[in-house]
Amino acid sequence: MNLRIKSLDDILATAERKSLHRSLGAFQLTMLGVGAIIGTGIFVLTAEAAQKAGPGMMVSFVIAGFVCAVTALCYAEMASMIPVSGSAYTYSYAVLGELVAWIVGWALILEYAIAGSTVAVGWSGYMAGLLRNLHELVPFLPNVEIPMQWANGPFDGGILNVPALLISLLITWLLVLGTKESAYVNSILVSIKVVALTVFVLLALPVMHLENFHPFAPNGYVGKLGVGAAAASIFFAYVGFDAVSTAAEETKNPNRNIPIGLIGSLLICTVFYLLVAAGAIGSVGAQPLSGPQGQVLEPGSVELAAACQGLHQLVCSKEPLAFVLRELHFPNIGNLIGLAAGIALPSVILMMVFGQTRIFFVMARDGLLPPVFATIHPKYKTPHIVTICTGLFVSFFAALFPVGKLADISNSGTLFAFLVVAAGVMILRVRDPGRKRTFRTPGVWVMGPLAIFGCLFLFSQLSTYTEVLFLSWTAFGLLIYYGYGYRKSYHARDEQAAGR
Ligand code: ALA
Repeated sequence: MNLRIKSLDDILATAERKSLHRSLGAFQLTMLGVGAIIGTGIFVLTAEAAQKAGPGMMVSFVIAGFVCAVTALCYAEMASMIPVSGSAYTYSYAVLGELVAWIVGWALILEYAIAGSTVAVGWSGYMAGLLRNLHELVPFLPNVEIPMQWANGPFDGGILNVPALLISLLITWLLVLGTKESAYVNSILVSIKVVALTVFVLLALPVMHLENFHPFAPNGYVGKLGVGAAAASIFFAYVGFDAVSTAAEETKNPNRNIPIGLIGSLLICTVFYLLVAAGAIGSVGAQPLSGPQGQVLEPGSVELAAACQGLHQLVCSKEPLAFVLRELHFPNIGNLIGLAAGIALPSVILMMVFGQTRIFFVMARDGLLPPVFATIHPKYKTPHIVTICTGLFVSFFAALFPVGKLADISNSGTLFAFLVVAAGVMILRVRDPGRKRTFRTPGVWVMGPLAIFGCLFLFSQLSTYTEVLFLSWTAFGLLIYYGYGYRKSYHARDEQAAGR
């Protein structure tokens, strides 16, 4: 069977590889990672994790961080061997062939585009809270109440999430015009996020009550609701570290600096996340809310939205960190945290949508998607058509779905891509041992299997609904592949022309 494997040399040649200046050191890489990682996960999904795991979400943060750390080491080796755009899609093309590459590329739509929607919905929660309390923050401005039905999607007790829709459209427009994250803006945004989380920790930790940690894991450890399930959701909070591995080409002494950047940024985020989680749990409590029959209510469900009506609890909040500080009688610092989220989260949406457009672009360049996706705007020099299509997709999901459901769907795609990358690193060690690797995964035969096992475990803890959706999405993708890409693939045509 012809797997249509693209040779690594071909990939490197067709990507018109420019030799990039090696300028990034360990510190810049770590900042790059922290900037890409901190977002809706910690600012918003903390409430979802609490509803699933209660105080046990501390363990969830550790599990998710660990799975990301071992995968990150595998990612870094791939990126150092194949430093071109397209991320896991390109890696898979070189290792497992076109079909797997297509499935991974298709899964990456979930990782990037749906992640963009997730962050947009997270942003909306903070903006709605900020506007509601605007007068306290800026005395000459009135409070603005966005009606609940226009700040939430239909699965979350509303009709349409208008702020999430608007921010997604705005980001799309900026990307069509050619906006890019600059290192300077990134460093400002990283500082804002880090200061916001630090202030939160400093105010919340001293007023911790140990009794708020009991019962520690009211929903148990393994299952569709519990510590494992919360880890599968909170995994979203760590996604983004691949930004570090894809900078392998621009890094000084990559063998030393890439692992420092990856593990360093993941470690910094894990410590922050644990402190934030401990502060939230210890200060105001984080016990899950049960239904009338004592059943655990699923986050992002109409039932939980109904049970939360009129209740003041962490698990009900759309802006949990601001909520905690308001409860602790620091209303204005809570509002400032909301402002920090409001300023910093759009850049995470931008990175996600940007990443998605580039993956589509590479897939179109390979002939697996229509060539129109690879057209460039004559004036703005951006892939405007693919950007607009991606933006509409992101906006649609942002407008209709709750944040936790979107995060889970995004995670299903990410976990699949991570798993394939971890397998790919091991396969290439056997198949192509002599190839130059500017970074080698330490203990690959331990890290690789750990990463695969970790991804499978987290996938198994996602809701059945998410798993079914992932499989249906993959099946739908296969139909499209056999209906279009299989016949149009440039690689297959080249092989045919060469008589292979
Ligand atoms: N890790 C990023 C976030 O939490 C995607 O928003």
